[in-house]
Amino acid sequence: MRILQITIDNLRVFPHLEVRPDAGINYFCGGNGAGKTTILEAIYLSSRGRSFRHPLAGPMIRHGTVDAMVGLKLSDSGDDNREHRLGLKRSKSVFECRFDGRDITKRSELAALLPTQWISSQPQTLLEGGPGYRRQFVDMGLFHVEQDFLKSYAELRRILRQRNALLKQRSSSSLESWDSPFALAAQNIHAMRQNYIADLLLRLSQIVSEWDMGFAVSSRYLPGWDPLRPLSEQLREKRDTDLRMGFTHIGPQRSDLRFSVDGADADKLLSRGQQKMLVIALNIAQVDAIRMRRPDLDPVILLDDLNAELDTSNQGKVLAAFRERRVQAFVTGISDPPPEHREAIAMFHVEHAAVDPGHET
Ligand SMILES: Nc1ncnc2c1ncn2[C@@H]1O[C@H](COP(=O)(O)OP(=O)(O)O)[C@@H](O)[C@H]1O
Ligand SMILES: [Mg+2]
Repeated sequence: MRILQITIDNLRVFPHLEVRPDAGINYFCGGNGAGKTTILEAIYLSSRGRSFRHPLAGPMIRHGTVDAMVGLKLSDSGDDNREHRLGLKRSKSVFECRFDGRDITKRSELAALLPTQWISSQPQTLLEGGPGYRRQFVDMGLFHVEQDFLKSYAELRRILRQRNALLKQRSSSSLESWDSPFALAAQNIHAMRQNYIADLLLRLSQIVSEWDMGFAVSSRYLPGWDPLRPLSEQLREKRDTDLRMGFTHIGPQRSDLRFSVDGADADKLLSRGQQKMLVIALNIAQVDAIRMRRPDLDPVILLDDLNAELDTSNQGKVLAAFRERRVQAFVTGISDPPPEHREAIAMFHVEHAAVDPGHET
């Protein structure tokens, strides 16, 4: 999907705003508090049904108003370029969403319609945060490329909930009957993750080497148990610990994806800027992986604060990577992008709760 128009009403600092973005890179420039991140938030909200800043809707509704609205005019990436309308209204308690006049009630349905790759202003969290961040990242990619992923994942969660409920009650009698369905569901998720991650990491290495970053990255996928031995056997061995602690210690819910450089953890060795480049590369690798397996999907990249922590050479590499891929991207910054890219970028100036496209160069 390509975004043709964004209409925002009563979202944070904006009473009303209309933006007609370009099919390529759109760069929103302005001072602190101007509303740059809010524009990305509006798009993210339309693709995930919630904000990346806060799980509750309250904080994003403009003070003194009761609901925030975002409307998108979209165009199919296919040959027919058919237009679609996506509208979303959020009050403190109500979430309403319509796509071409049809009600959308599930966030997953929304995410499937408009895939967005969100790169925050502190993307290093993906490296230095807990394994949950990396699982979520990988699973979002899988959600788009593997038709069965959502169903298989829901099945795993269901079994895990049942097993953990028994463990909490310290009830060992029927515990064993859950081991084999759990192992089966776990194996299913593991196979999908293993396959997808292998592809993702190949693409990542390629981008890192093209960017000539002065380091080679290696990565290790940890499935959450020893994949060389049957999971059911390991569940049996861990049963006493599981019963004592009241939850399941091994399985795909504990998987991780670790990144290292020259044998050291990437988050401990690399500078903040280098880490940011690595995470951006990983996000681009994810977009490539999704586009390769799902040519009908066209993820939109949202990148907040390009200038922060990146020198102009690295900012240029990121913008060049977006341009080469002809991906639609929404990028913010407190200063202008490197001059050699300005001509190929649609520039928007954000100030006084308004966006001025007059500053296009
Ligand atoms: N609910 C709200 N109502 C009105 N203004 C808000 C609300 N929430 C945040 N703001 C204001 O919106 C402005 C824009 O924030 P943000 O988009 O993060 O700016 P930027 O990314 O340009 O630095 C901030 O100045 C903030 O004070
Ligand atoms: Mg911001």
